Amino acid sequence: MKILIDQESIKQKIKELGKKITEDYKGKKPVFVGVLKGAFIFLADLVREVKIDVEFDFVVVSLYRGEKNPDVIILEREVLTDLEARDVILVDEILDTGRTFSFLIDHIKAKGAKSVKTCVFLKKKKKRRVEIEPDYCGFEIPDVFVVGYGLDYKERYRNLPYVGIVDE
Ligand code: IMP
Ligand code: MG
Repeated sequence: MKILIDQESIKQKIKELGKKITEDYKGKKPVFVGVLKGAFIFLADLVREVKIDVEFDFVVVSLYRGEKNPDVIILEREVLTDLEARDVILVDEILDTGRTFSFLIDHIKAKGAKSVKTCVFLKKKKKRRVEIEPDYCGFEIPDVFVVGYGLDYKERYRNLPYVGIVDE
C-alpha cells in the first residue's frame, strides 16, 4: 500500500473544513446528509469540528456502471428527515464522475430544501461527466483508485486511517 494522504494531513484538513462550515452556517442548523457507506468516517470526524447545532440523515445509493448504457443510480434509502426549508450539506467521500451527486442534489431539492451545498473528502482531478464542483473539498487527487478513510476496494480497506493506493 502506497500512502497518498497521511493521517496527520487528514486531521489538519478536517479541522479547516469544520471551521469553515462553522463560520458559514453560524445561526443556522444545517442537516448533514451522508452518503453511505463511504462517507461515514469522514462525516463522523468532520462534524466533531463543527461547533454549531446540526442534524443528520443518511442516504444509501448503489451505482451500476454501464459499459454502453448510461449508469443507473438506485436510491436504496432516501432521506427521512423533513427537509422543507432546511439548509442541507450533502457529504460524500469522493467526487468522481459527479453522477451520484447530481442525482442526490435533485433528490434533496425535490424534498423542499432551502439550500443544498456539497462537501467531499476527495475530488478527482479529471473531466467530470456532470459539471459539478463541490462547495467544500478536502483534497484534490489524481485520477487513481484510492482506498482508506471510508473508501473501499470490494468492501476492504475502509478502516485505514489514511488514504492509500493499492499496489497489486
Ligand atoms: P461518482 O462521482 O458518481 O462517479 O461516484 C463516486 C463514487 O464512486 C464514490 O462514492 C465511490 O463509491 C466510488 N469511487 C470513485 N472513485 C473511487 C476510488 O478511487 N476509490 C473507491 N471508490 C471510488
Ligand atoms: Mg460510494
